[in-house]
Amino acid sequence: MIVLAIETSCDETSVAVLRDGHEILSNKIASQVELHKKYGGIVPEIASRKHVEVINPLIKEALEAAKIDFKQIDAVAVTYGPGLVGSLMVGICAAKAIAWSLNLPLIAVNHLEGHIYANFLTSNFQPPTSKQDSISKFQTPNFPFICLLVSGGHTMLVLVKDHGDYQTLGRTRDDAAGEAFDKVARFLKIGYPGGPIIDLLAKRGNPHAIEFKRPMLDKEFGYDFSFSGIKTAVVNYVSKQSEVSSKQVTDIVASFQQAIVDVLVEKTIRAAKEYHCTWVALAGGVSANSLLRESLKTRAKKEHLMVSLPPLALCTDNAAMIAGAAYHKFKQGKISDLTITAVASLRL
Ligand code: KG4
Ligand code: ZN
Repeated sequence: MIVLAIETSCDETSVAVLRDGHEILSNKIASQVELHKKYGGIVPEIASRKHVEVINPLIKEALEAAKIDFKQIDAVAVTYGPGLVGSLMVGICAAKAIAWSLNLPLIAVNHLEGHIYANFLTSNFQPPTSKQDSISKFQTPNFPFICLLVSGGHTMLVLVKDHGDYQTLGRTRDDAAGEAFDKVARFLKIGYPGGPIIDLLAKRGNPHAIEFKRPMLDKEFGYDFSFSGIKTAVVNYVSKQSEVSSKQVTDIVASFQQAIVDVLVEKTIRAAKEYHCTWVALAGGVSANSLLRESLKTRAKKEHLMVSLPPLALCTDNAAMIAGAAYHKFKQGKISDLTITAVASLRL
């Protein structure tokens, strides 16, 4: 079965062709990072206009790369939320047009669900003993598993019971983890988007130079998170220094990253034990973070848990993950109507 999927929820236009729910034939991504860089964040109007500009050529490119023509597609999938309404609408209109003109089933996918499905594509299995972030063999996580979904807009712990069956155990009460990375980077004027830059700079710093408080780590907070306090702690720390050297910047970001990762890993492992899961998985842009990946693998090994880490290219926004989720929805008969519309604050 061939699924053509479109993802335009934020600042990446992406089109993918997926065979049988896991084999990526193509996954084209047109990033707008350079466009938004000078504003230090995403400008919704600019994002929608850019999606309009690139969507048609990108569909063509994805089909060509997959060596597939329109006639071979079995279903069309599209992200319908959460995200920026103007951006989502571009993808939705394109998907509807293809589905209507070719009389194909349309499958509307929740972006968050899509991120989880990055764990079901190609080879993602990481044995807990492996030092490298390389691929050893293709194995998808066994149900039920705990998925830590960490992106620029969301931070949540999800108990994934089966395909399409989720229980949200906790979520952030304020900033998402990725948002905290981006805001701290903006405050320190080290670039945009902050996550990958902090990841890189932190490698040169001392993660225990400043012991930032680990927010909401106590069991009384359950599986909720809070990251705005730690961002303020960074601001307060910097404002107390007469000047901040580049060495201090690396120590600050390393300590900040360590504090965030400690909380994320601890709660993920705790949830796996409480809900008797043998697998834990990562999803969302922040799951590309090297410290998070390494720390989760190390802790999981100690606890005899298996870990699923999406390949780096599938952590951030892409349409292949949307196609993966759509395949299983299709199998369950969850076909959408041509009247679907964008839902900016759609929940899992
Ligand atoms: O999933 P995503 O591409 O978009 C949303 O759905 O939000 O996630 C983007 C977020 C950004 O906040 C970015 O800074 C963060 O993921 N990110 C990272 C890394 N790579 C991307 N955060 C920490 N470390 C990274 N290596
Ligand atoms: Zn995302």
